[in-house]
Amino acid sequence: MNAPVAGSPVAPNPVEASWPANAPIPSPKLVPALADKYINIEDLRLGARRRMPRGVFEFIDRGSEDEATLKDNRASFHRIKLRNRVLVDVSRRSQQITLFGKPMSMPLAIAPTGAAGLACYEGELELARAAARSGVPFTLATPSLTAIERIATVEEGRKWFQLYMWRDRELSHALVRRARDAGFETLILTGDTAVPPIREYNKRNGFNSPFTFNPAIVADVAMSPGWMWRVLRPYLQNGGMPKQAHYPNDSKGVQVRMVGGAETLRGDNLSWDDIARLRDIWKGPILVKGVHQPDDVERGIREGIEGVIVSNHGGRNLDTAVSSLDVLPEIVAAAGDKLVVIADSGVRRGGDILKLLALGAKAVLSGRPTLYGTAVAGEDGAAHALGLLKRELDTAMAYTGCCAINDISPRVLWREAS
Ligand SMILES: Cc1cc2nc3c(=O)[nH]c(=O)nc-3n(C[C@H](O)[C@H](O)[C@H](O)COP(=O)(O)O)c2cc1C
Repeated sequence: MNAPVAGSPVAPNPVEASWPANAPIPSPKLVPALADKYINIEDLRLGARRRMPRGVFEFIDRGSEDEATLKDNRASFHRIKLRNRVLVDVSRRSQQITLFGKPMSMPLAIAPTGAAGLACYEGELELARAAARSGVPFTLATPSLTAIERIATVEEGRKWFQLYMWRDRELSHALVRRARDAGFETLILTGDTAVPPIREYNKRNGFNSPFTFNPAIVADVAMSPGWMWRVLRPYLQNGGMPKQAHYPNDSKGVQVRMVGGAETLRGDNLSWDDIARLRDIWKGPILVKGVHQPDDVERGIREGIEGVIVSNHGGRNLDTAVSSLDVLPEIVAAAGDKLVVIADSGVRRGGDILKLLALGAKAVLSGRPTLYGTAVAGEDGAAHALGLLKRELDTAMAYTGCCAINDISPRVLWREAS
């Protein structure tokens, strides 16, 4: 049991932080102080909703346009069923895998989420600490409110960096160099955000880009004195309004749109030709996020990337985009053993993770679950979210007769004949 799932061997970046060599890797655990009140991710979601202004909560929670993809992300996991496996000794179970040559406690990494620092003060740092103590990688997003170098002060843990490539390539390449020099080990190039998405609730809530106070927002924030005290006040005391830490000075107001706006920040001329230049800078794994088409996988293989992330951005970008679960088998088939396939969007239960792995994903990303946790209780809340997902995955593995991640295969799945 426990044969590691291998990612492709790639040269690491020169400086790398991880868990100490030879020490057992830490594992996600339920946080006792939260365990009675928050017994699943939905409890954390409702807790987050109570603790922040409506506009901020909806910015995190909702999707684009009619939110068809947002809803289908959950529905897709319910369309596919699991099969029991009986009379198998499952008394020794492990979720540990090896990805890109390094161990992780479970097949999950924290997804990049811009403005995690609005869920809680310095939310990105809290997420990075929660990931480190839980033995999973943390991904810092380009639009984060906390800078790369500050995240690097969290010594332990694997850190990945997500890039939105801007029209001004020099600005973007400088960021990639900073992430490399700070010890980040994997680069995620987001490919599914050529233009800003249409998120109608942001407009209704008075969220403009760059963010400015207007009567609607002032009224909304005033209804959340706890959020003002816990989140806004420390920013104001330590340097002023929260801002995206990596954006150039001329567009430093909080951008509600993560790409576009200023000419330098447009994201619509990103192409496969950019990979070669990134490869000159980045020796670690490069993953392209938002992939739905087998052709793109084939192109990625030719360009020498190490992996793809099947994602619809959590239903936040292209509405009616296919769910990751539905499109995953085609992507896995195209990738063969040449690329690592990771999947995200809509994972709220450990059983969802099992289904994605059974269809060939090597790991999943979690976006909102850990953000909700952070809003509820900072690092502890995010760690608790990871603990919940781990416990549920453990249960699903035991019922389906899987002792190790490598035991999870399509045989655990049942689909209605179409
Ligand atoms: C508030 C928020 C901000 C996000 N910001 C980014 C980002 O800056 N870059 C990116 O590639 N993906 C971003 N995403 C998408 C996530 O990386 C991930 O694909 C998605 O959240 C997965 O779906 P889930 O939230 O259902 O787990 C964001 C998601 C959320 C919820």
